[in-house]
Amino acid sequence: MKPRRIVDEMDSYVPGRSQDEIAQEFNLKKDEIIKLGSNENPWGPSPKAMEAIKKEIPSINRYPESQLKELVSEMARYSGVEDSQVIVGGDGADEIIDVLAKTFIDEGDEFIVPLPSYMYYEYLLQQYGARPVYAKWDLDKNELDVDSIFEAIGERTKMIFLCSPNNPTGTLIQKDVLADIASKNPDILVVVDEAYFEYSEVTNKDLINEFNNIFIIRTMSKVLGLAGMRIGYGLACSEIIEYMHRIKPVFSLTRLSFVAALNTFRDTEYIEESIRKGIESRQYLYDELSKIDSLNVFPSKSNFMLIGIRDTGFTASQLALELMKRGIIVRDCTSFKGLDEYWIRISICTLEEDKKFIDIIKEVLS
Ligand SMILES: Cc1ncc(COP(=O)(O)O)c(C=O)c1O
Repeated sequence: MKPRRIVDEMDSYVPGRSQDEIAQEFNLKKDEIIKLGSNENPWGPSPKAMEAIKKEIPSINRYPESQLKELVSEMARYSGVEDSQVIVGGDGADEIIDVLAKTFIDEGDEFIVPLPSYMYYEYLLQQYGARPVYAKWDLDKNELDVDSIFEAIGERTKMIFLCSPNNPTGTLIQKDVLADIASKNPDILVVVDEAYFEYSEVTNKDLINEFNNIFIIRTMSKVLGLAGMRIGYGLACSEIIEYMHRIKPVFSLTRLSFVAALNTFRDTEYIEESIRKGIESRQYLYDELSKIDSLNVFPSKSNFMLIGIRDTGFTASQLALELMKRGIIVRDCTSFKGLDEYWIRISICTLEEDKKFIDIIKEVLS
């Protein structure tokens, strides 16, 4: 039995590797593995979220809520927008991207992604018959090549994905650039992915009141410590949110995810501490790695940093393997379009784990 043509032609998405997989493959103890591959919060979830999950367990025989009004209000308060400007996704921000595609993409449409960026946009939108058109990040200047976006726009362009801070470069896109692109292209949806905005302390959420063609993607998987609960959300004018609600999966957020989300947003101390510790770790890693001559370390506004390793004598897959044997998971960026085989990405960690990582990478490179 043949699948749809698009599925037949597609490659699978390559996610970061888990601790369980690496522990098994290299015969290591899971809790001794240092995971720097998936940009998670290394300090664990909010204690209030964990308590709420325990209390909710006896109710999991019942369907969850579909309207999620209390959570929508909490997200709106956290984001400084109206309730009608929020939509919740139950498979993280990835579900929000999927619902966006289902709502707006017709077969044959085009979307623009500057490379390198988060590869999941392309993976999802192609499933709906859309075609990627690539713009670029200027890696020498470490900034978005804005002209390349304007040059990529054509008659069939439906969406432009702009990740800020960008994964994997860690760079911000200036708000006036986003506003300029949106104002000159009122029929194109400008999707601004703010998965990591807390670490940059910059948001573009005000733009949704100015432009009805700007959509902001958010997630609870990063600073908010809930990657395993799969909760994302989106912010946009209420017209876009209303269209998306028509086709969004009805019960996609589990009861446990719902209470975890609600109680994390209410745990301001946890959120502030996670941001503070994340920025501290980022600075430590940047300072220490910059002292190693063979590494080209990109300054980052996020919870990860991109590292060029061309001068080390290793390819990314070789270096990732050497580190893995020693219990460190980093992201080999070879599968990111727009990067070659000489780039890795590492996430922030606890200072203790950061120090171990620095010792081990020095040992491998020496
Ligand atoms: C830029 C960006 N957007 C979205 C996501 C997806 O996040 P979620 O875990 O909420 O699906 C990620 C995950 O790594 C990401 O890096």
